[in-house]
Amino acid sequence: MTDYTLLDSQAEALLRDEQDVLANAANFVALLYNALDDVNWLGIYVLRGDELVLGPFQGQPACVHIALGSGVCGTAAATLQTQRVPDVHAFPGHIVCDAASRSEIVVPLIVGGSLVGVLDIDSPSADRFSEDDQAGIERLCKTFCDLQSGRNGFL
Ligand code: SME
Repeated sequence: MTDYTLLDSQAEALLRDEQDVLANAANFVALLYNALDDVNWLGIYVLRGDELVLGPFQGQPACVHIALGSGVCGTAAATLQTQRVPDVHAFPGHIVCDAASRSEIVVPLIVGGSLVGVLDIDSPSADRFSEDDQAGIERLCKTFCDLQSGRNGFL
């Protein structure tokens, strides 16, 4: 079980004094990747025009361009809704980057009311992410986004 309250305060402490969004995104991703069990890929896809482009991540090299509405990430971005997928093989249009991935959660990143990207977390285990995980990860994303509002960078 992940202590999301502790992880959220660690994220805030790590990010609050740094103004550079790229550096903060890289550190946010590294913090979560090392804190969460049973995860094989974790990273940010950034909204660039009408597509998502690969940003800071931990794990195997991944596909770079994802169209809005395509795969799990593109669906989260197009609908602005978290996608919690217990079995990626059952998700229509799922984009395979790391063949080890079995379940996945993707959370839209909203800064100042606008979509800036998504956080994508993959696990080699089926049904890895519970409703509690979803709530905890959404809270972490909100902390990250709220701290990036008005700062300098790429998102
Ligand atoms: N599985 C994702 C693509 C990104 S990789 O998992 C890193 C999707 O279908 O959106």
